[in-house]
Amino acid sequence: MQNFKKFIGSFSFDGKLVESDIIGSIAHTKMLIKTNIISANDGKKIVFGLMSILKDLKKGWKIPEEEDIHYAVEKELIRRIGIVGCRMHTARSRNDQVATDLRIYLKQEISNIKDLLTTFQKIIVRKASKNIDVIMPGFTHLQPAQPILAAHHLLAYAWMIQRDKERLDDCYKRTDILPLGSAALSGTSFKIDRWYVAKILNFKSISENSLDAVSDRDFAIEFVFCVSLIALHFTRFCEEIILWMSPEFGYISIGDKFTSGSSIMPQKRNPDCAEVIRGKSGRIFGDLIAMLTVLKSLPLAYNRDLQEDKPPVFDALDNIKLCIKVMNEMIDSLKFLNAKTLKSTKKGFIAATELADYLARNGIPFRVAHKLIKDIVLYCRENSKMLNELSIEEYNKFSPIFKKDIFEYLDVKNIINTKTSYGATSKQAIMRQIKNIKRKLR
Ligand code: ARG
Repeated sequence: MQNFKKFIGSFSFDGKLVESDIIGSIAHTKMLIKTNIISANDGKKIVFGLMSILKDLKKGWKIPEEEDIHYAVEKELIRRIGIVGCRMHTARSRNDQVATDLRIYLKQEISNIKDLLTTFQKIIVRKASKNIDVIMPGFTHLQPAQPILAAHHLLAYAWMIQRDKERLDDCYKRTDILPLGSAALSGTSFKIDRWYVAKILNFKSISENSLDAVSDRDFAIEFVFCVSLIALHFTRFCEEIILWMSPEFGYISIGDKFTSGSSIMPQKRNPDCAEVIRGKSGRIFGDLIAMLTVLKSLPLAYNRDLQEDKPPVFDALDNIKLCIKVMNEMIDSLKFLNAKTLKSTKKGFIAATELADYLARNGIPFRVAHKLIKDIVLYCRENSKMLNELSIEEYNKFSPIFKKDIFEYLDVKNIINTKTSYGATSKQAIMRQIKNIKRKLR
């Protein structure tokens, strides 16, 4: 093929659509038969020819190169069944055809991604249940803030991914609209039956405006956006895995195969998988910007620019599937080093809020209590003491309200147990959370 033809074509990157293209063409042909636009005899030959191509593709046969995958299939059909194959393209254009193919393809892939994400959530729930008693510091500003259950932290990701799945469901709704029958841009004078095609191809509805239908890629942009958010959520988790694995934190270990050594430093176990997932977000966000930019300022209806939708969509899709699969295995291998996480709660005065609450519950206005505890923490810092190392006499120097029971309030386990509000970190609240996410996963 000439370089120029290659340049305007898309064969090098639209091959993934071949099955969707053939399935779409079979449905279109059946409709042409039903509406007597072509004879049943001709139609059967076309369907037979298309099926034979599909069968050979499944055996590993490669379709000869053409300008794009749609031409390639049509050319091959005509090569196989002769001139009758030329009737297939009646009452349609590559413009409505390619839009249809991409929708068929993405509908399937949305389901595939959702399945992978459900596996992720199930692994999280299992980990959370198994580690229900592991205590660790919760952070804000990456500074120790308040003690939490590690399960609580893990489950936060299950809920993020739940929203991602719901977003994909929403994207699916707008992908589930059939553009075929819009032809090049203005529809067709043939008496076609678009609903019949929709039924065969399992589309919920058909597009209302042929100009819009052939030039709309909103569904694809939305899809890449949904993927971008999944990638973004994973970067947050991976960042934490990387931090938690460092000796400074030492909160977790992950399976050896998810790390790699250094070519020069023999002691290293680097969290490469987590880093690659974090890094993949860069190209996925780039795919989103590419999609937005291709569509920007594009006059109606179809323009060849739209062909450039496929590389970013497929890139985002392929990479997110890889990332989810690796993530699932990596999280499955995660182990909490609970002695270390518990020890870490001793740092950073993370019981300070409880002391302020203690005073507030005993009549001191919260802002006043807050100031008082701030002073106590300062006193501890100056005297290199922890909150539970002060005597009751020292506490009483700051306020007579402190009683001996104050020390119960400093115990991290007790602190966690008191956090019983809906969605909070007590074991009881976490159990409810697990029950609720499990219900979503049913
Ligand atoms: N390869 C094209 C694409 O991917 C197919 C549609 C071409 N249509 C046209 N009028 N040139 O968008």
